[in-house]
Amino acid sequence: MKKNKPQIIAFNKIGSSELGYITIAEEQKNVPFDIQRVYWTYYTPQDVIRGGHAHKKLQQVIFAVSGVITFNTEDKEGNKETFVLDHPTKGLYLPELIWRDIKFSHSAVLLCLASELYDEKDYFRDFEEFKNYVP
Ligand code: TYD
Repeated sequence: MKKNKPQIIAFNKIGSSELGYITIAEEQKNVPFDIQRVYWTYYTPQDVIRGGHAHKKLQQVIFAVSGVITFNTEDKEGNKETFVLDHPTKGLYLPELIWRDIKFSHSAVLLCLASELYDEKDYFRDFEEFKNYVP
């Protein structure tokens, strides 16, 4: 995979409709970085838009383990894309320097695998600052 653009990674599932399923994420195998942090978000109201930021260095793979989560992304060149996470096997790879807005369906649960520990200094929370940044 090319690591310079947002993209869906299709994860395998093991199981059956009778017994249920399991999906596995492994660093440097189907996740293209070492995982330093995992977080999850839940109970996000449907009328709320989360995100509204980009990262200088952080890479992420993000799942909707339940529900549907929609990402609108924009890179520094102004390329906009929409990604709909509507199945637990779909992981959204986000490289560094991608602005994102996120919407959640009722009872959606977001799981994020992250390449770095939490660092508020890694965030752009101002869109113009993000666009003007020269790496
Ligand atoms: P933020 O990344 O802004 O969430 P979202 O993109 O879902 O709107 O994080 C929300 C709050 O949680 C913010 O105050 C920072 C804090 N936070 C941590 O302390 N550690 C973390 O690992 C994360 C992801 C967030």
